Amino acid sequence: MARSAILGSSLAKKYWMALTGLFLSVFLIAHLAGNLQLLDMSPEGQLKFNAYAKFMTTFPVVKAVSYLLYFSILFHAFDGILLAFQNRKARPVRYAKENAGANRSWASGNMALLGTLILVFLVIHMKRFWYEMHWGGLGLDADGNKDLYAVVAAAFSELWYVALYVASMAVLAFHLLHGFQSSFQSLGLNHPRYTPIIKSVGVFFGVVVPILFALIPVWMFVNR
Ligand code: HEM
Repeated sequence: MARSAILGSSLAKKYWMALTGLFLSVFLIAHLAGNLQLLDMSPEGQLKFNAYAKFMTTFPVVKAVSYLLYFSILFHAFDGILLAFQNRKARPVRYAKENAGANRSWASGNMALLGTLILVFLVIHMKRFWYEMHWGGLGLDADGNKDLYAVVAAAFSELWYVALYVASMAVLAFHLLHGFQSSFQSLGLNHPRYTPIIKSVGVFFGVVVPILFALIPVWMFVNR
């Protein structure tokens, strides 16, 4: 295969990684906003969270976006693994140590590893919450909605589960710290004035979003 074709397909992969990655970042903000309701552990707060979960699993537009989300997760994961193999093949000798700090962060060289760990987290996460919500035999709350709050509270009453979430959010932070700003580069959105702003927003996003996610299990464990 011609070198340009290989490069072209690698660029195409990066492009789709960037688009799906940005979509997943938007999902993360929405998911975080919804889950922060869990910090209100009062009986009313619990009912509100269950009503919200019902809306999110039954409203047709949200359901349609969910299918796009599942597709994006799978596409982003498989495309990322293919890209990592392709890069390894094109560059069998990894970057020398002295180059590593210059313009490549540790996260940028380990995106596939970080992504794989997030995928493992997602399988465990969706089995416990998403699968239970859709197909588990959940009890009903006082309003007659599925009691998803009880499922989350039970999970976050286990110390190892809380530790798993906190560790996974650290992994997510490193993945986002490189991924967010890198996706703009992959889309060719480079600008002397805006690129530094995008990088700052990326650092804020990569630090604040995982910390707020990690706060939820810790808060629920401490106040259980
Ligand atoms: C404290 C942290 C988190 C909590 C409490 C939480 C809670 C939940 C719950 C209760 C559900 C099931 C809701 C439903 O089926 O509609 C869910 C689904 C899901 N979660 Fe999380 N989540 C957390 C972090 C994350 C993170 C960091 C990611 C991604 C890296 C993630 C990805 C997903 C996905 C993809 C779904 C399926 C969404 C859908 O069906 O539309 N979650 N989460």
